[in-house]
Amino acid sequence: MKATGTSLTRWVTGLALGLAMGMSGAAFAATGIAATKHNLSSSGSGPNHTTGTDQICVFCHTPHGSDTSAAVPLWNKNLPAGNSYQVYNSTAASATSTIDGSIAANVGSVSLACLSCHDGTQAMDNALNKPGTGGYNAAGASIGGTWTGAATMAGTPIPVLGTDLRNDHPIGIQYCGGGLSGAAAVVSGSCNDDDFIGAATRTDSHFTGAVVKTKSVNSAQVFWVETGTVDTTRQKTDISLYTRSDVTGPSVECGSCHDPHVESKGSDNIMFMRVTTAASAICLSCHVK
Ligand code: HEC
Ligand code: HEC
Ligand code: HEC
Ligand code: HEC
Repeated sequence: MKATGTSLTRWVTGLALGLAMGMSGAAFAATGIAATKHNLSSSGSGPNHTTGTDQICVFCHTPHGSDTSAAVPLWNKNLPAGNSYQVYNSTAASATSTIDGSIAANVGSVSLACLSCHDGTQAMDNALNKPGTGGYNAAGASIGGTWTGAATMAGTPIPVLGTDLRNDHPIGIQYCGGGLSGAAAVVSGSCNDDDFIGAATRTDSHFTGAVVKTKSVNSAQVFWVETGTVDTTRQKTDISLYTRSDVTGPSVECGSCHDPHVESKGSDNIMFMRVTTAASAICLSCHVK
């Protein structure tokens, strides 16, 4: 792990903790998250954490009593309404005429889970199943404790993205990687754009071998963009694409670029990226530019 000047000053405590605990990349997800800003527990050292519990996962997941309407595994928080946002699209003031994919009118999928903290509208410690016996409350209840920072995230436009997402990279948008037709096409019909990594193995200088992969898991079709060494497994360092009922074909969501559990990637130790931002590798893992 290499520390940049920026990450060292911003994140020296977490980095030291990560190193002390023997953190080594994606192999130790739980150790990894403990040293990130997503550790909101009493052991957290980010800008927002509480004395209310020493459990780390509980702010997002519960083993029992989770929200089955959430598109995120074992989700433990109240989700905001998907229609309470403005999204990047071609009719908005920020519009461009170059968009090919259609954008879902409502925020959904994993993006809604991220925004349940990052839109800044509700406390981050609202849990369906609080730690300990008898902690379940269908309406959600505060984990409480004394907060460093605040239970409701502050600071716009980032890290609080707000509910106007027109100034953010599109989410809930069709991934138009393609250039092929028939069964090999990632998205068929008009959303088929050679400007994106598609099903054909990429051979230009950026990400030799990058390719969109798809396979069936439990009867559902899943998609991802292979980065790094091309193999047949989905890894945290691959770009996740999502399936949702209101988008045809795979969609790009917050979780495509970010893995909420792993803070460091390549030479940058911040931002929960799946692929490093160095030399804009994250952008080039989808865009053929
Ligand atoms: C800040 C919120 C947050 C915290 C804290 C968190 N997770 Fe997650 N987790 C998520 C989100 C969001 C997803 C969905 C990611 C996606 O769709 O790619 C997820 C997905 C997962 C998955 C399935 C996908 C994968 O990456 O393997 C597992 C397993 C998981 N979490 C385990 C954990 C465990 C164990 C902890 C505690 C050590 C934890 N998470 C803490 C937000 C969180
Ligand atoms: C339980 C609340 C919670 C959820 C859910 C959550 N986050 Fe965060 N996130 C935080 C907090 C708190 C911070 C630190 C805010 C600050 O810097 O002031 C943070 C910071 C970040 C940062 C900035 C990291 C840095 O080094 O500056 C990124 C990127 C991020 N989150 C992405 C995501 C994504 C993507 C998701 C969904 C997959 C997500 N978060 C879900 C609470 C959450
Ligand atoms: C297309 C890729 C992509 C998508 C999709 C994406 N992000 Fe990011 N995000 C980035 C990159 C790259 C950065 C680092 C920007 C920088 O270096 O300033 C970032 C930074 C952030 C930060 C930290 C900003 C800062 O300067 O402290 C937060 C918080 C964040 N993202 C949350 C989200 C959430 C929530 C979503 C979904 C609504 C999302 N991101 C979707 C690529 C993406
Ligand atoms: C997960 C794949 C993915 C990643 C990673 C990604 N993008 Fe995108 N991006 C898309 C998709 C899909 C669109 C929608 C394009 C379309 O339909 O024409 C898009 C749209 C855009 C647009 C708007 C295009 C328009 O015509 O209005 C810009 C600009 C952009 N991305 C820049 C970036 C940058 C900069 C990064 C890195 C920080 C990045 N993207 C990372 C998939 C990605």
